[in-house]
Amino acid sequence: MIEAVTVAQALTRATGELASSGIAVPRLDARLLLAHALGVPSEQLLSLDARALSAAEQSAFSDLLRRRRAGEPTSRIVGRREFWSLDFAITPDVLDPRPDSETIVETVLGALQSRAVPRIVDLGTGSGCLLLALLSECPDATGLGVDISAAACRVATGNARRLGLDDRAAFACMDWNGAVTPGGFDVVVSNPPYIADGEIEGLAPEVARHDPRGALSGGADGLDAYRCLAPAAAVLLRPGGFAVMEIGAGQGPAVERLFAARGLALREARRDLAGIDRCLLFASESST
Ligand SMILES: C[S@@+](CC[C@H](N)C(=O)[O-])C[C@H]1O[C@@H](n2cnc3c(N)ncnc32)[C@H](O)[C@@H]1O
Repeated sequence: MIEAVTVAQALTRATGELASSGIAVPRLDARLLLAHALGVPSEQLLSLDARALSAAEQSAFSDLLRRRRAGEPTSRIVGRREFWSLDFAITPDVLDPRPDSETIVETVLGALQSRAVPRIVDLGTGSGCLLLALLSECPDATGLGVDISAAACRVATGNARRLGLDDRAAFACMDWNGAVTPGGFDVVVSNPPYIADGEIEGLAPEVARHDPRGALSGGADGLDAYRCLAPAAAVLLRPGGFAVMEIGAGQGPAVERLFAARGLALREARRDLAGIDRCLLFASESST
């Protein structure tokens, strides 16, 4: 017979188990996984402390904990990730959005202050997190998310619908070298794949095993995407527009040279939560 366990007891036990497996935020992960097993929003767990878990729920929760202890990220297990305080669905087809990428959103919002109706294009949109976070902050903006992965475009489209932003966001499955309206955009954003191929296997298993290779692989030196994005941004931006690119550690000078060669000058570099230059803002040399 299975011992009766309440939500509060299950949480305490699971937190201990995850902590002893070296999981960094055991209480939060335990809460998200238990909510997933019970099919309730995680905020609701607090009011369910005394509720007993059924045998099926205990078994489902044990399975989720086993997967987490084996190194699968909680966001992958529950299929959701919070980004810019918005709830995004994720699947194995898209990058798990990173808190550091919120730096791109902050940089765009800081630079946009005087622009009334921006048109935004997000090259390599994945879950759509960058474009949709920006649209959520700019009620008059419209945007296009481009991704070479049709599956990613489907995920982004679903996220736009759930967030109520689908009337202002469109998604196109295409290569970012493809023909999008020249001069049609005020803002180009991109968080492209920028890991040098030889470094991918050495990444944390949560990244190397669970993020799609097409979202990580930046070619031999990690810069392949920027070689395409610099000319693409130069064509897509209207005069006075700007581009904000996420970069990997130490890639700043090389990316700056690639954009400068296309007439896009570095205006700002912004650091991430760890103090590393994480995104660069470029504007056409004629703009202020
Ligand atoms: C690092 S992920 C970023 C996803 C999302 N913007 C984010 O920040 O979480 C890069 C994305 O670029 C897409 N991608 C890679 N090469 C591409 C190309 N040539 N054209 C369009 N998209 C591409 C990948 O499919 C992937 O979804």
